Amino acid sequence: MDKIIVTGNGPLHGEIPIAGAKNACLTLMPATLLSEEPLTLTNAPRLSDIKTMTELLGSLGAEVSSLQDGQVLAMSSHDIHNHTADYDIVRKMRASILVLGPMLARDGHAVVSLPGGCAIGARPVDLHLKALEALGATLDLRDGYVHATAKGGLKGAEFEFPLVSVGATENALMAATLAKGTTVLKNVAREPEIVDLAECLIKMGAQIEGQGSSEITIQGVDRLNGATHPVVTDRIELGTYMLAPVIAGGEVECLGGTRQLVGAFCDKLEEAGVDIEETKRGLKVKRSGDRIKAVNVTTEPFPGFPTDLQAQMMALLCTADGVSVLEETIFENRFMHAPELTRMGAEIDVQGGTATVTGVERLRGAPVMATDLRASVSLILAGMAAEGETVVSRVYHLDRGYERVEEKLGACGAKIERTNA
Ligand code: EPZ
Repeated sequence: MDKIIVTGNGPLHGEIPIAGAKNACLTLMPATLLSEEPLTLTNAPRLSDIKTMTELLGSLGAEVSSLQDGQVLAMSSHDIHNHTADYDIVRKMRASILVLGPMLARDGHAVVSLPGGCAIGARPVDLHLKALEALGATLDLRDGYVHATAKGGLKGAEFEFPLVSVGATENALMAATLAKGTTVLKNVAREPEIVDLAECLIKMGAQIEGQGSSEITIQGVDRLNGATHPVVTDRIELGTYMLAPVIAGGEVECLGGTRQLVGAFCDKLEEAGVDIEETKRGLKVKRSGDRIKAVNVTTEPFPGFPTDLQAQMMALLCTADGVSVLEETIFENRFMHAPELTRMGAEIDVQGGTATVTGVERLRGAPVMATDLRASVSLILAGMAAEGETVVSRVYHLDRGYERVEEKLGACGAKIERTNA
C-alpha cells in the first residue's frame, strides 16, 4: 500500500496547475445517460474516482473513452442495456447515486444500490429520493437497493429541499430536464459544480434558469442532444494548494484559479494574514508575515467556507499565533485528521462539531494515517512545515481527489516522495 513521505524543507516557489473539478466531473459524467448523442468532457481530472465512475457507466452499457492521458472523456450512452448500479461499485464511491436521476428520466426505471455511509458521516440519500418522488417516481427500498420507476415518465413539480444537498440537487436537476412540464427546485445547492452541470445540460438542449441561486427552474424537453463541455476548475484542489506556501513559506501561483471559486476561503486567509494576488494566469499566494494569526472558521454550503477545505485549514491553524475555533456544520464526523495532527504535536480539542486549535510554534514529523480524502492532504500540508519526516499511510484516499500531488508540490521545492514499501 502506497505511502507518502514528506519532510519540512523550507519555503516553496513556483506554480501549480489546478485540474478540473472532481465533484463537477462526477455529476457531468452521469449526464451522458440523458442523451443518446455523444457527450465529451474536456479538462477532466485524472483520478481514481473518475475511473470508478467510468466503470459504473460501462456496466450500464455506456461507452466512455479516456483520451489525451485522461483529460478528455468521450462518452456515448446510445445503448443502455442494464439499469442496475451494483453495490460492489456503488460502495466504492457514493457519487454513484447520481446515475439514478438520469436513468429514471431516460427510461423510466432504475435500480441503484444505496451507497451506505462513509468515514465522515452516515450520508443518507433521503433527499435524493424525496426529490425524485416529487417528480412522480415510485421508489421501493429493498435488499439495500432503490428500485425506482416512473410509469409514463417523470412530471414537472415544485420541490423545496429541507436542507441544502449538493448531490440531491444534481440528481433532481438532471431528472427534471426530461420531465413533462415545469419543475421548480427551491433551497438548492449553489456550488460552482451545480452551475457547471446546468451549463452543460443547457448545451445539451435543456431549459434551465437560476443555477447558482437558491431556486432553479427547469422546463422539461422531449430529448437532449450531445455536447462538448470543459469541466470547471477544482476549487477544492485550488484552496488546498493555496495553503501550501502559507504553511511552508514562499510564494506559489495556482494556475487556473479564480477568486470567485474560493471567495469565502480567500476572505478567511486574508484575515489570517495572507496576500492573494489575482494574476492573468491564476492566484499568487504568500504569507504576509512570519506567522499566521488565529482565525475562527464555520463551514457552510456555498458561498460559505467549504467543508472540503476544513481539514486543510486546520493544518494551517495548528501553527497560528493564538487560538482558533473551527465549526463543522455539514458533516457529523469530519475531524478525523485532528488526532493525526495531534500526533505531530498540534493542540486540538474536539467537542462534537467544534474543534479548538491552540497554535504551537512548529509541528514535528510523525507516522500518520489518512482517513478520508481531505484529511489525507491536510497531513501532507502539515508535514511540509513540520520538523523532520512525516509518513502518511493509506494514501489511496488521496488519489481519489488529487492527481500527482507529490509532483505538483515537489515541483515547487517540497521534499515529498511516494513509496510502496
Ligand atoms: C458533495 O457530497 C461532495 N461530493 C462532497 O465532497 C462535499 O463535501 C459535499 O457535497 C458538501 O459540499 C461530491 O460532489 C461527489 P451533500 P454530497 O448532499 O452531495 C446530508 C469531497 O471531499 N444529506 O451536500 O454527498 C449529508 O449527510 C467530498 O470531495 C442528507 O441528510 O453532500 C450532509 O450532512 C466529501 N440527505 C449534508 O446533507 C441526503 O439525501 C450535505 O451533504 C443528502 C445529504
